[in-house]
Amino acid sequence: MAVIAEVPTRADLVIVGAGVAGLTAALRAARGGLSVVVLNKGAGADSGAAERPSSTFYAQGGIAVVLPDNAEDSIGLHVADTLAAGAGLVVPEPTELIVADGWDAVSALIDDGAEFDRDADGRLLRTREGGHSVRRIIHAGGDATGAHVQRSLERATTAAIAEGCDIRCVDHAMATQILQSAEGEVTGVTYLVDDGESTGNGTITAPTVLVATGGAGHLYAATTNPGGATGDGIALALRAGAQVADLEFIQFHPTMLYVPGARGRRSLVSEALRGEGARLVDAEGNSVTEGVHPMGDLAPRDVVARAVEAAIERTGADCAYLDISGMPDFATRFPTVRAGIEAAGVDISDGRIPIVPGAHYLCGGVVTDEHANTTVTGLLAAGEVARTGLHGANRLASNSLLEGLVMGGRAAAEAIRRAAPKPGTSRQTPQDSRVGSVANRGVSSQLSPRRDHSTRARVLPRTELQNLMSHEVALQRDDEGLRATLAALAAAPIRELRGRADYEDAALTLVAAAVTSAALGRTESRGAHHRADHPETDAAQARSVGLRMAGDADDLRFERDGEPVERSLAL
Ligand code: SIN
Repeated sequence: MAVIAEVPTRADLVIVGAGVAGLTAALRAARGGLSVVVLNKGAGADSGAAERPSSTFYAQGGIAVVLPDNAEDSIGLHVADTLAAGAGLVVPEPTELIVADGWDAVSALIDDGAEFDRDADGRLLRTREGGHSVRRIIHAGGDATGAHVQRSLERATTAAIAEGCDIRCVDHAMATQILQSAEGEVTGVTYLVDDGESTGNGTITAPTVLVATGGAGHLYAATTNPGGATGDGIALALRAGAQVADLEFIQFHPTMLYVPGARGRRSLVSEALRGEGARLVDAEGNSVTEGVHPMGDLAPRDVVARAVEAAIERTGADCAYLDISGMPDFATRFPTVRAGIEAAGVDISDGRIPIVPGAHYLCGGVVTDEHANTTVTGLLAAGEVARTGLHGANRLASNSLLEGLVMGGRAAAEAIRRAAPKPGTSRQTPQDSRVGSVANRGVSSQLSPRRDHSTRARVLPRTELQNLMSHEVALQRDDEGLRATLAALAAAPIRELRGRADYEDAALTLVAAAVTSAALGRTESRGAHHRADHPETDAAQARSVGLRMAGDADDLRFERDGEPVERSLAL
């Protein structure tokens, strides 16, 4: 653990999170001459810790990218697939930009030492996942793409430091507050270092802070996400006055390994298995997706997840199955899935992997423009924590590592620009940062007020929160359950925050309230958001709705589109 006294008190850029977006930004910014501090919630890369804090490490399928030598693919086709999966809420301009930048971002990663699976002639191998009309997903180590990407970035960071780049990684550290001037501009962060044995607090002054903290899978009792996915960045940004959007779209992966009674992180069973021939069947052996969607088992993820849930309800079984009996190379092509099954002690000798849908990805997040600027000047967001407009109401498979790579690089470029304003020009104001923004389109925008923080916040005990969210705010929602959840969250006791678990629980409580408010406000079904009481899609609601905090940290009220939620939802 870094001794607090050794952590710099000033930096050009503080990055909160050390996954694909965070480390890509750190490398790019430091190579551009910035001093960078990375707050990493987990142990150091070489610690041998059993679980990594970032979801990047656990990504299996791969990176969706249009390869220059893939004649059957094009930027337009990848964009079209992304738009179709996103159920009317994908914003075309940032999507085109991110998809078009994909190959350059992947090439930079390969230059930094990342190795992807190739055929005998050295060509990159490509697989297919749900919602993709062609094979365009590159992978590494079979199904260990995220682990390879993470390790490549960690090695590149170590090498860059050895070459003189100014990057300081602080392990076991999380940001506890975004510091702001009276005008609301970012001036730095406070942070907590907690290695489970001792804790300490510190402050870093910086003109730019990038949140790259990933998602919030631990809102739910079972998730494919590692323990670090507790919504920290969204909570930090909300408390700083930033706008969030699309939080109601929590993506459930159709095939999470089913282990009776297990809570917390569970193994993912990659969608790429279906791309390579596995079939989804119910407990009676019938196809789960026949007649549901023309793309069958490779339909967009929200469609397949609901079909799996329906199959489980129909049969009364605890799970459905992925039939791999026609895949002789399963064990060698999918070593990570196989290892997860073995570690959980699940028997698949009959050629069937038991699966259930599991909380996997937050499609929405902190609203950013194409340079990773949030609505708070100096606060940037990239990766799963951000809402660029790429995912809309349902993320297309394997677009997340792509987004992290591209937007991590763009965030670094923005931090460099902010650190060196051109002579005679002034820094961007929050108002300016929205002019010309393409990603914020359709989301209401106002200036961000400065907020006072305290180390006290509402905290619902984690198990209670996860049970509530798993029952009332999961694949199916309705008005009654959402209101009951909001009421329970609003009545959560206010607690003093001391260690990492306290801050995480406070973040989960705040993010749960934001997700539930967003879900309550969307009185239709679209993408990953399904309302049992509003099963139809409503064309009039085909837009993102901005949400921001209406009160202080211990007050879980929000404004939707600038209106108090109480008024707009008649709570
Ligand atoms: C998977 O391998 O199925 C997950 C890929 C993703 O979440 O994009």
